[in-house]
Amino acid sequence: MKCLIVYDSNFGNTEKIARAIAGAITPLGEVKVLRASEANSSELASIDFLIVGSPTHAGRATRTIKEFLKKIPENALKNVGVTSFDTRFSAKDKGVGTRILLRILDYAAGRITENLKGKGGYLAAEPEGFIVEDSKGPLKQKELERAASWAKEIVKSKK
Ligand SMILES: Cc1cc2nc3c(=O)[nH]c(=O)nc-3n(C[C@H](O)[C@H](O)[C@H](O)COP(=O)(O)O)c2cc1C
Repeated sequence: MKCLIVYDSNFGNTEKIARAIAGAITPLGEVKVLRASEANSSELASIDFLIVGSPTHAGRATRTIKEFLKKIPENALKNVGVTSFDTRFSAKDKGVGTRILLRILDYAAGRITENLKGKGGYLAAEPEGFIVEDSKGPLKQKELERAASWAKEIVKSKK
């Protein structure tokens, strides 16, 4: 079983989640973790899973992630299990104005997963968000553990 994790991260929080996911999958197969700026579509050959992670910026993935997604050829993800994660604020932690704004903007993970499915991938697990306490982090307690258990769910979906 081969799994590729592609992520972007400005302050290191999304990278920590990517590495926690990799750590959970490593005993079950081969895992490669790449920063989106260093990933290209040749990496997609013969993978079973593609997991893409991004910080949420104004409800969307970062430009680097969007550029990576654009480079994936049509149908390149046929028979590949796909999903994505983002790091984000929790609406619950914010005042009413910000809470409404966050809901309107939505988050990056769902959008990334839709894009990956559009390239032919099958949904391996529902997209997930991991919470940061502030723009630069830190991650909320137990998010690394939550990422590890989400990762195991992905691998279980293998066709
Ligand atoms: C320019 C900018 C826009 C952001 N927009 C959102 C947003 O719309 N929703 C949200 O939940 N978090 C938002 N955040 C907070 C990011 O989610 C947070 O910075 C990110 O999770 C940190 O991940 P990183 O350490 O991997 O860069 C924003 C942060 C920045 C810097």
